Amino acid sequence: MTGARPLLIFDSGVGGLSVLRPIRALLPIAPIVYAADNAGYPYGIKSEAEIAARVPALLGRLSERFDPELIVIACNTASTIALDAVRAALDVPIVGTVPAIKPAAALSKSRVIGVLGTEATVRQPYVDRLTEEFASDCQVLRHGSAELVELAEAKLRGEATPREAYSRILEGLFSQIHGDRLDAIVLACTHFPLVEAELATATPHPVAFVHGAEGIARRTAWLTRHHAWPDGPTEGVALFTRRSTDIEAYRKGLISYGLGRIETL
Ligand code: SIN
Repeated sequence: MTGARPLLIFDSGVGGLSVLRPIRALLPIAPIVYAADNAGYPYGIKSEAEIAARVPALLGRLSERFDPELIVIACNTASTIALDAVRAALDVPIVGTVPAIKPAAALSKSRVIGVLGTEATVRQPYVDRLTEEFASDCQVLRHGSAELVELAEAKLRGEATPREAYSRILEGLFSQIHGDRLDAIVLACTHFPLVEAELATATPHPVAFVHGAEGIARRTAWLTRHHAWPDGPTEGVALFTRRSTDIEAYRKGLISYGLGRIETL
């Protein structure tokens, strides 16, 4: 890493790469540290108390080590539970990732939208508040799936994932409503855009998939608009919180996102 302060992009696993990609497109020379909390993964089946304790503490350690210019919490579960606590604890701009209910409601013609996230995310009061504020005239269906997180991780490791699994997971939403009225699905977990193409082939009728990665990238670029980045591109770092033999399986996938160096905390 050069002397320039990096962007720190944080997730429980590799889902935050779906946010890294548009950030990289807008800020091609920004040094990036992508931190995956594989020691705490998966977040989606953990309790609120565990996430609320773990995420601020870990981001504190990562901030001390990397002195980031800005942190992106590229994880809906962590953001909907711990965003305020992290902002209160750290003196660095923090961009969170919350379910894209507002844009989904804006484009839905049928006024029936789905929220597909982790079990932890879909039960959050934060989602109730977004629904009340931006989708009060919509029927909002929710479904949590830990399996879909696993499928996205497997895809990044280069493993084949079965189509039936996507259909079965989507059935958790489509079974809640008759006919073809569901016309927009919020991908409320950053892992899910990594398997958007697979999801799109497994819906019973066409729907729009909506997530907030582009908006997060624009916000990140705006908040860092006065920062002096280095003269040329720097190699991105993928940092895992636990040393593990499994990490090697991700190497090829990480390189395709510009993360050529792998480190552990
Ligand atoms: C997970 O670790 O379960 C995924 C968390 C998320 O991106 O919401």
